[in-house]
Order: sequence, then structure tokens, then C-alpha cells
Amino acid sequence: MEFCYKISYSKLAKGFRGKLQSNVALQRDRCSAYLAAKLQDFNRQSFSVIDSEAKVMGLKEELEGKIPESKLAFLRTGFDIIGDVAVIEIPEELESKKLIIAKALAKVQPHIKTVCRKLGEREGTFRLRELEILVGKDTRTEHRECGCAYRLDLARVYFSPREATERQRIALQVRPKETVMVMFAGVGPYAIMIAKKQKPARVYAIEINPDAFKYMKENIRINKVSDKVEPVLGDVKKVARNFYGKCDRVVMPLPKEGYKFLPYAFRCLKTKGGIIHFYHYAHEDDLYSEAEGLVKKAAKKAGRSIKILARRKVLPYGPRVFKVCLDIKAGKSK
Ligand SMILES: C[S@@+](CC[C@H](N)C(=O)[O-])C[C@H]1O[C@@H](n2cnc3c(N)ncnc32)[C@H](O)[C@@H]1O
Repeated sequence: MEFCYKISYSKLAKGFRGKLQSNVALQRDRCSAYLAAKLQDFNRQSFSVIDSEAKVMGLKEELEGKIPESKLAFLRTGFDIIGDVAVIEIPEELESKKLIIAKALAKVQPHIKTVCRKLGEREGTFRLRELEILVGKDTRTEHRECGCAYRLDLARVYFSPREATERQRIALQVRPKETVMVMFAGVGPYAIMIAKKQKPARVYAIEINPDAFKYMKENIRINKVSDKVEPVLGDVKKVARNFYGKCDRVVMPLPKEGYKFLPYAFRCLKTKGGIIHFYHYAHEDDLYSEAEGLVKKAAKKAGRSIKILARRKVLPYGPRVFKVCLDIKAGKSK
């Protein structure tokens, strides 16, 4: 089984770099290291892997002479690239130069067909954000990640390429013949990666956004996992009851108010117990206390004992705010 990791090279402890190089294929570029590893060959717990935005090399150089140097200092060279669509942030200081920047980006990254600009934060139940198209026409694309393909429309569904490492981390933990529930499944990346990389008995994937659900069905088909993944359209609060007592593992990738769904997650687990992956937002001063408190409270109500197996800082979300994950082992229901 082979997984790909994108990590910041500087984040690897010096001693560990040598170890990795002897065990795995490692390629470096100027800002990050990519490694493909036979996972059984190294201990994942030894270092922390944090995904980051893609860095576009040569953009500043391309803009020299087109934008005054004083303004170039405001340019952000880190973007999300999803398939052939780039999503960029334009600071106020560069508002009048947004088209020049977008065109320069498409020039230095010729595979990019559409350049969009973020117009705000993600909002609403579907976790969508408004985008302004600066170059190209189409926000529909196909993104490839670790042997899986995801078709999606960035204007209509949630998708983040920065969560690739987290998806792999979760998929890695799934044992053969497990029944897995992915709540808040989006276009299907967690469910599809689990089904493709492991041998679960079944993966149920619940999503409320009809557009995301439509793409999830298509992605299940193109990734050839229709025999494993069952897409479910609906609100977790309404449809989870069909899966009560059936699951060995529940993934809850909704950090914003996902705690409200913890009672449903506990009920979906088999009587003998199982694992929950719970996501939450937290300030870096205290990353896990609130999440742990919420889980303990829900577990008590559900009549389950719990043990926290892992605490993980997943991604930066805002200034000093992170998306975090708790891997929780829930015991037998009383
Ligand atoms: C943060 S996104 C994660 C999507 C996907 N898991 C991924 O990693 O790309 C959360 C998703 O949950 C969906 N969602 C929000 N509330 C929901 C609910 N009550 N029931 C089912 N899906 C919900 C949203 O439409 C959105 O697609």
C-alpha cells in the first residue's frame, strides 16, 4: 500500500530526515518535500505532518515591472490549486492589480485554466465561499490526490486539497472488514480514500448538499468503489438513525459545530464500541481542552466510556486558530 505525503521539509527533525531518506523515496523542492512511503516501513508517530498551501515559484519575478515594488510586498505566493483551478487571495492593497496577478499566475503555471479569488470566508451549512473568477470561465475541475480522482465544482461544493494528509492518516487506521460512517462527506474524499486504500466491509457517506452528493456519486463511480461506498443524501440528524449500531468507526469532518452531531456518532457505533474521529476549531493557546470536554459530555450522555487515542493539530484555520482532531475509542454501550 503506498501513500503520498506532502510535508514541510524544515518540520522534520534533522536526525529523522536521514532515517526517512533511507526508507522512502524523497524528493525536495525549494519549499517542501514530497515523500512516498511504504507505510509499514516507518513509524508515523515520529513526526507531525502538516499540509500547507502550494507555493507558486516565479510569480513575483513575472510581476516585476508590472506592479510597483512597494505593492509587490503585499503579494501572497501561496495558493490552493485544485485540479486546474487556482484559488488565490488578493489583499486590498493589490485590488487594482488583481487581473494582472491572475494572468501572471496562469502564465507561470500553464496547467491552470481558471484563477479565482476568494471573496470571503466559508459560510452556511454547505461551507461554501464566494469566488470571483479572474481568468477562465469554469470552476468545475478534476483533482487528483494519492491515486484518487475527485470531480467537483468549487463554486458549489466544499473541497480542500490541504486535507490530503489528514485523509490518509484516517484511511490508514481502517482495519479490514470495518464498517465506516463518514458524516459530512462532501464530494467523497474520505470515503473514497478509505474504500480505495483499505478493505472495509462498507463505507456509508452522508452529505446534505445535493451538488456535493451528485459529485460524490460520480466520484464513487470513477474511482471504482461502488461496491464499498454507499452515498446517502440528507441531514445527519435525520438519516443517521438508519445506521445506529452498525459502525466500527465514525469520521466527523465538520469542525464548525460538529460537536452537535456527537450523539448521533455514538449511536452509530456498534454496541461493543468503536472509534470516532472528531474535528473542532481551537485557539493555539489551548488546542484540545474544549474538544475533549465536548466529547466527554456527549459520551456520558450516550452511556459510553471513552479513551482519547490521539490529539492532532490538522491545519491552520485563522490567526492562531487551528483545526484539530481527536481520535476517540468509545467503549461498550451501557
Ligand atoms: C467541512 S465540509 C467537509 C466535506 C468533506 N468531508 C471533505 O473533506 O471534503 C462539511 C460538509 O458537510 C456537509 N454538511 C453540513 N451539515 C450537514 C448535515 N447536517 N448533514 C450532512 N451533511 C452536512 C456540508 O454540505 C459539507 O459538504
